Amino acid sequence: MRRVVVVVALVLAGYGLRLAMRSPAPQPVRTPEVVGASAIERGHAVYARYGCSICHGPDGKGGFSNPNAETDGKVPGITYVAEGYTRPELRKKILDGLATVGKKDPNGPRPPYRMPGWAGQMSDADVADLVEYLWSLYPKTEKSKWR
Ligand code: HEC
Repeated sequence: MRRVVVVVALVLAGYGLRLAMRSPAPQPVRTPEVVGASAIERGHAVYARYGCSICHGPDGKGGFSNPNAETDGKVPGITYVAEGYTRPELRKKILDGLATVGKKDPNGPRPPYRMPGWAGQMSDADVADLVEYLWSLYPKTEKSKWR
């Protein structure tokens, strides 16, 4: 009987030692997300992370040259999308992109920049946050007019 107790004690001690010596549990790798931020703030981070600003500018005001694009030869600004799209349409636009940008002069060259599609690259949560961010870009003065 005493032997059994000793064995149990030894096993427990060994287990305790193993626990104490165990290396720390692996931590998940954290992407630079804005913790505790609002959807709009997270969406702003998504906008930066996916490089939307390279073409649409840091504030979505656009204006970058896209020679012979029907949108005035420029990459369009996206501050007014809350007017032209519903949220689901905007979401679809981001995921699908647009393979062929319309030409201003049909006989002219193909505009060099097009809107990439992000399906399969962006998580649902990222797209949802991004939509909220783009929505928030609508100028406040205009908002008061029609909302
Ligand atoms: C390589 C350049 C490029 C990048 C990067 C890019 N876009 Fe675009 N985007 C365009 C061009 C060119 C158009 C105009 C063609 C069109 O209407 O789809 C456009 C159109 C759009 C439109 C429609 C605007 C309208 O008035 O109908 C939205 C919304 C948009 N982009 C959002 C985004 C977001 C969000 C990102 C980042 C995830 C992004 N774009 C990244 C080039 C780009």
